[in-house]
Formats: sequence, C-alpha cells, structure tokens
Amino acid sequence: MRPWSVLGIFVLLAVNEASAFKANDFKTCSQSGFCRRGRALSSRATEAKSWVSPYSVDPTTIDVSSDQASFSATVKSSLYPETNFGLEIRIQDDGVARVRMDEVGGLRKRYDEAASWALIKEPVINKEIHWTKGKKDAKVVYGDKKDISVIVSYEPLRVSLLRNGKEQVVLNGQGLLHMEHFRNKVEAPTSTEEPPAVEGEATDAEQALLKVEVNPRAWFEGETEDALWEETFSSWTDSKPKGPESLSVDIAFPNHPVVYGIPQHATNLALPSTRGEKPTFTDPYRLYNSDVFEYLASSPVSLYGSIPLMHAHSADSTVAVFHVVGSDTWIDVSHASEKSTETHWISESGILDTFLLPGPTPEDVFRQYSKLTGTAVMPAQWSLGYHQCRWNYVSSEDVRSVQRRFDEEDMPVDVFWLDIEYSDNHKYFMWNDKLFPDPVEMTNDVAANGRKMVVIVDPHLKREDNYPAYKEASELGVLVKPKSGEGEYEGWCWPGSSSWTDFFNPAAWDWWKSMFKTEPQGGSKFSWVKSSTDIHIWNDMNEPSVFNGPEISMPRDNIHYGGWEHRDVHNINGMLFSNLTYQAVAARTDPATRPFVLTRAFFAGSQRFGAMWTGDNLGTWDHMAVGVKMVLANGIAGMSFSGSDVGGFFGNPEPEMLVRWYQVGIMAPFFRAHAHIDTKRREPYLLDEPYKSLVKDILRLRYSMLPIWYTAFRETSVTGMPILRPQFVVFPKDKAGFNIDDQYYIGSSGLLTKPITAKEVKETTIRLAEDQIYYDYFSHHAYRGSSKGKEVTLQAELHQLPLLVRGGSIISTRERPRRSSSLMKNDPFTMRVALSKAGTAKGELYLDDGVTYNHEKGDFVWRQFNAEKKGKALRVSSLDLGKVKPSEAVDGVALSTYNPSNEYAKSIEDVRVEKLVVVGLGTKPSSVKVEGSEKELQWEWTAGVGAGDRKEGQASLLTIKDPKVLITKDWTLVIQ
Ligand code: GLC
Repeated sequence: MRPWSVLGIFVLLAVNEASAFKANDFKTCSQSGFCRRGRALSSRATEAKSWVSPYSVDPTTIDVSSDQASFSATVKSSLYPETNFGLEIRIQDDGVARVRMDEVGGLRKRYDEAASWALIKEPVINKEIHWTKGKKDAKVVYGDKKDISVIVSYEPLRVSLLRNGKEQVVLNGQGLLHMEHFRNKVEAPTSTEEPPAVEGEATDAEQALLKVEVNPRAWFEGETEDALWEETFSSWTDSKPKGPESLSVDIAFPNHPVVYGIPQHATNLALPSTRGEKPTFTDPYRLYNSDVFEYLASSPVSLYGSIPLMHAHSADSTVAVFHVVGSDTWIDVSHASEKSTETHWISESGILDTFLLPGPTPEDVFRQYSKLTGTAVMPAQWSLGYHQCRWNYVSSEDVRSVQRRFDEEDMPVDVFWLDIEYSDNHKYFMWNDKLFPDPVEMTNDVAANGRKMVVIVDPHLKREDNYPAYKEASELGVLVKPKSGEGEYEGWCWPGSSSWTDFFNPAAWDWWKSMFKTEPQGGSKFSWVKSSTDIHIWNDMNEPSVFNGPEISMPRDNIHYGGWEHRDVHNINGMLFSNLTYQAVAARTDPATRPFVLTRAFFAGSQRFGAMWTGDNLGTWDHMAVGVKMVLANGIAGMSFSGSDVGGFFGNPEPEMLVRWYQVGIMAPFFRAHAHIDTKRREPYLLDEPYKSLVKDILRLRYSMLPIWYTAFRETSVTGMPILRPQFVVFPKDKAGFNIDDQYYIGSSGLLTKPITAKEVKETTIRLAEDQIYYDYFSHHAYRGSSKGKEVTLQAELHQLPLLVRGGSIISTRERPRRSSSLMKNDPFTMRVALSKAGTAKGELYLDDGVTYNHEKGDFVWRQFNAEKKGKALRVSSLDLGKVKPSEAVDGVALSTYNPSNEYAKSIEDVRVEKLVVVGLGTKPSSVKVEGSEKELQWEWTAGVGAGDRKEGQASLLTIKDPKVLITKDWTLVIQ
C-alpha cells in the first residue's frame, strides 16, 4: 500500500466520523455485483497489454443500403458465438450520431424505453449522407464542411467520431464493451474447465486471450459467477429473476483533457478522476437516484438525480455523450494523459443507446442536447422571486404571521411553502384540520399580496382505506407491485406503511391529474377541494425514498407497468412523477397557467417540468461552496432552474454564514431558504443587525434583477444555453478557466459573479479571460482583463457580493423595493449602459405577463438596446427584437404571431425608463437628447476612467435622471 493511500484512509475515517453520512446505507462499487464485474474487467484489461475486445461486426451482415442513412450490422462476441447483437448507427440532421446495440433473439428483452422518456421526439435522420463499406471498417463523412466522420471498425468493434481527422469520441477503444447476454442458470463452470471450443480460426481477440493463457470466458467475465443470479446487500436480497444483463462500455475522449456533467454529485464541475494514477476518488461516479442523509460535500456518491450527459472539453473543441440508460450506472473517469480522458460506464440493465454530440463548441453541444431532450420551460415569473420554506410552518396562523413579519420588515418574498406537516398524518392532499382549518382563506391572504404558496405532495401513499388517494390508486391497480408481480408493494416512508403510484402506467395519468382539481370533478371521487390555483407543488422523495428499502429505495425486483423491473427504470421514475404533477397543475385552469413544480429526483428531460434543488445539504461552508458547483453542473446538463437550500437544510448557521448563503442564493436561478424541523427558526427578519439589513439588501437586489433573470430564462427556454455559465462555456479556449467553478456569468447579461463561500473573507480574485473592461456592479470601479487571462482582486467584505458587469453590456433592472414580484409589474426601469473598451454596448430585455401562455401567441415585449458611436455622438437606442428576429422561436412557437401592440405590450405601454446610466464614457458630453426632440434632458456627470482608457479605477458616470422614454417603444438617445 502506498503511503498516500494510508493517509487517504485516515482522512476518510476522520471525515466519516465528523459527519453523519451513513456510508453503510449505500453500496460502493465493490458491493454492487455488476459494478464489481465491470471494474474487474477494466482492471484485467489494463494489466493485460495485449487485450482485445471479443466483440466484432459481422461484415456480411452490414446494411447501409436500405435508406443509406443508417448503418446496421450484427455484432458477435467471440466468447458466445451463438449470441447475436444488433448494432445500429444513425446520423441525425444536426450531426449527432446515435449508436444503439441490443441483444437480438435473446431469452429475454432488455429495457429499451429510457430514450422515449427523455427525448422530446424521435430525432430526424439525415438521409443525404452515404456510408461506405470497406474491408475493415465502414465510414460516413458529413457536416457542412464535411469535417465530421464516424468510423465503425469491424474487428474488434470500435466506433469513433472524428472531426478533421482528429478523434473526438471513441466507443470500445479499450475493449470494455460487454453486454451480458441473457442466459439460463447452469452450474457455474470451474476455472479448470477447457476454454470454450471456437470454430474456425481463432480471432485476434481469442488469440490475445490465449496468449495470456486463460479460459477466455472466465478471463472476460471473471472466474466465478459473481452475483449473477442473486445478490445481497445488508439485510436485503435482490432476486435478479432475469439474471445478469449489465452493460459495460468504455468511452474515450482522446483529445479532451476535462470532462463535466453527469449530475448529480457533490464535487467539482471538472470531474476529478476515479481511476488511474492517484485518483481523487476511489469509487466511480454513480448515477442511482438516492436519498442520501447528510451527504458528504466531496464525493462521487450518487445523489437525488441522474443525467447521463457528459461534456468533454479542450481548447479546440467540446463534444458530449448522452448515454441514455435508466438503471443504476457507475462511471469511472481517468485522465490517461494531459490531453485525454477515458471513461468507463457500467449499467445494471438496458440497451446501449448512446448519442455522440459532435459540438464543436459548448454552445453547439447545448443546442444538440436540447434538441434531444427539450429546453427548460419558461417559468412563472413569481417563481424567480424569493421562496421562504421551512419544515414546517405549523399552522395557518404561523403562515400569516411569517408573512406579516416579512411585510413589517419590508422584505420582499413571493412564496411561502408548506412541508409535510400540513397534511393529515402525511396523507397528502388532505389538510390537518386542526392546524390548518382554513387553507383556502390562508392562501387567499397570501395571494392578496401577489404571493403564492407551494405545498408538498410526496409520491408515497399511506396504506389506509380511509385515504381516498390510496384507495383509488389501489382500485385502479396503478400501484407498483412487489417482485411476485401480484398485489401492492409496501414500504415505509413518512406516513408509515405506504405504497407508490406507478407512473409508468398510463392508467395512472388522468387519475393523478384529476387529484389536483380545485373543484370536485369526475374521474376521481376524491379531489383536493380545499385548494386554490395559487397553490403550486413540491414533489419530494421521488427517487423514490423508501426508509426500509435497500439503499433507502425500492427493491430492484419490484415490478412496474409492462413487467419491467424497478432496476430498469429507477432513475427515470422521479421524472415521471414531476412530469405528471406538472401536467396536473397546468390542467387546473382553462386556459392553463404556468405551473411551478419543484422536484428532488430528476433525469434527462426533467428540465421540461420545472425546478430542482440539491436536496438535504448541511449548514456548513463546504456545503455552501459545493452547492454552487452542483448548480453549475445541473445547468450544463439542461437543468438550469436549480438552486440549493439557502442556509443549509441541517444545522444552525451563524449569521455570517447565513448572509453569505443569501448572496449565493440570489445568484442562483432557484432561490429558496429551507430548514430542517430540528433547526432553530431563521427567517431573515429574525437576524440581529447588521445582518438583518444586509439580508434585506440582498433580497432587494434579487428583486431589482428579476428582469435579468427572466430574460435569461427566455433565452434558455429557446436555445438551451445554461442560465449560469461557467468559465469554460464563455471562454472555451481559456485553459486556465477549465477548472474554475466558483465564478460564472448569468445568461447573456454580461454579469459575472463569484459568491463568497468561506468564513471571514475580505477580498477575492476573479479571472477575466479577455482584453476587456469590467465594472463593479455597485461601485463602478473599472477592472481590466487580458487576452492571456488575468486575476483581478475585489473587495468582498460581508456586505459585498463580488459582481461585475462585462464592458459592452446593457443591464435593465427595476429598483423600486416591493413586497413581491407581481407588484413590480408596472414599475419603471433603470438601465445601465456599461461601455466596452470600444465604446459600445448591447443588451436584451424580455417581458411577458409571467403567468399565462399568451407569450406563445406573441404577447410579449422583447427589446434590444444598442449603444453605438456615430461620429462624436453615442447613440443609445431601443429596438423591437420581436420584429427583427421573426425566425426565432419562443417556447417553440414562431414569432410570426408577434404583434408589437399585443395585449401585454399595451398593458405596460406607460412603463418608462426612469434612469439611464452610461458607465465609462470617455469625456463629459455637452448635450443629451432624445432623437427627434430639441429638449435637453436632465443629466449629471461624474468624471472617472473611460472605457477606452487603459486604466483601472472609478469609472466615469453619466446619469440621465428621466430620459423620457418608454420601455415598449423604439427610441434613441443622442449623447454628444
Ligand atoms: C426531505 C426533503 C426535505 C424536506 C423533508 C420533509 O428530507 O429533502 O427538503 O423538508 O424531506 O419533507
């Protein structure tokens, strides 16, 4: 044992002792049969230098002729010549290559529906391309510049995607592909048995194996039948009725040194290694949606959600793989050399269905991934405000008094939340009548201030015949079944003995939707009549969490609709729950209004159904810090509407930590404070001074910036670009930025922030990777970046949030403090024109009613602002983007229906710009006028650094008090 591993064990023990993470509740790879087998294969292959994969394409079966667009062939394993696998490769219209492989004519069927839940539609295949079939490989060349190629090598099977002849992604390059075929249980062969008879000449693979003098099958699959037919973990036995069916595949990025993605794990954005020389983690990253109590702040352990999307990045290109599997999946990452990354994916079941996203920029990858799984839905505008949650607000009176205290302190808040204790013995939909005697009136009181409520509905149903939700689900036969396939699975959760709705069963869908009606309706005999359309929904525990189940979840041999085992669909399960709830909440009104649903478990595609949060974090600095990274990782995997519990779920954060956590919270798309039932109350109004005022200012800052967040959501809902953009996304060529995951840009606004996540910090550094001026958001101090990259130092005392505006941006805010976002509807705007070093700037503002779907019919205001030099004058103008970009889509609906004087635009036609500040003007102007008017506007000048100077320091400010222009109209200010 090397000295560093001994040290590693000590560190691990110390960490485990200090935290309450129950490592024993969850499997490590070595405790999971299929992971153990997969990793052992990779160890053997790494050691045996001459190792060659036994899988090969049978060239006589290649079919590229039928439609010329896809490649198909039979794949054989030399170890099991009697088994056939079908390989298919389809090139899509956007260049994405989809590789599918399944066992053909096997004893049983593998689960092949994961993609159908994740994808928004069947991708369009490019029919213009032609495969050429050679002796050793088949190849297709495509792309606008004919720079992309996909090569399928026959023996051994190897699939690679290249750009300009350079390998981007390689499948089975290391020979770890193994699709365990279905088989019948026979007595395990002993290792002394003869190698299987091989007909004809030995293949390369067999020769390689024979050279290492082993029984090839035993060498490949292991000497013993390790956990093929049954597996125990702790006190549970998994009966594995289908036997072994795991899927192992290595995916290499020979020219990409860093990989990102595969949320959710508490770790760095650039994924640290788990294999190879001195790995950071000794276990692979795991994707198995899990309710992990007091999770560690640095660990590859699987958390609540799973998105099997991995970006691989270099200064030259970004590519990604989307490996759509719904079963337990372990992923090893090793940085084989300074320029390459090797990964190994081991899944418990399912077909091989892997999309290779060719990039070549991060932006292209986001577009390609969004085209597959959809974009984040345009949220209700109020859901971008502040959410006040706690387990629990204990009564209607408690809710009212919390609201009153916020109002007394003039602190903005949009949503009050109710956790599980609102319900009658954890029978969701049913109120505890003693504590909440008047839920509708309570909600109305909240709504009277333009606010909403969010109430929790968990997926477990208390098994009580007097609980109509359970009774109905039981009668409908839509509950998950135990391994026998008969009756109802019973497990333990908050209400005690519970059962779970099987949302894979279409018969559950309409029933679930009927549950959320706010008036009794047909379908369900029971409906949540004591409700209101101002109540929205929180879906928790949907991994699903089962307190007395293996790994705090369902047994894998439970049965879902269609006879599939829980193991096949585990990671998809939670998404279906939030999907159906989302549809249910939307269907409460006709026409529908935008629902808000928060989910804890998620899968690829969950972005279409609302927001997620990072689960039960701890009130510690390291959890605060890793939360930022996790939110970034979720964002680059499509889940932009994400945040972590402000304050930390467990523990009692000291005031300094709470202030910092609020700063982190306002810089996240989803902004909610939450706390465990055992924690002290910590609503911001309870803080002493100066902390109380600090948090109030932070809340107000979030509200002033809501137009920025909303505009960023519009963009992500159309393009799939993440809302929070880490350094590699904005500066893909800046190598020093590849590992940066504590500073990030907000949408395309030009705002760059680095929230402080450590104690007693007084200053911090931010990397500026371009030769551009940046201004401090608050003080307008100018900093200069460099094209080689430069770290600038910012003051970051407790009252200071490091926030910069990139030169060249125009930022629109609403600066009037209000109690909730809906009260800001008619508020005037403040515009900040932050000039670039070239003396220009640009920005966007998107507005709509924030509640209905009328924006899809063209009811919105979408402005572009430009600051341009013309002669000696600076012209700041506003133009209608709805008119100039008719081809772009909003929420998938063409702007063709856009009408500049639509109902929404009319409703805010009096809303004006109340202040416009130009930052970084070189010289004091002599006149400021609206074009077309002779009247001089009122303005003030503070001399300072100009954007075109090479200096740092206080920037010059031109403040135009009331520019007399309207937000919905075209105008130009002439400054000269
Ligand atoms: C889970 C959730 C947490 C919630 C609690 C009670 O632990 O993650 O947010 O407060 O359940 O519902």
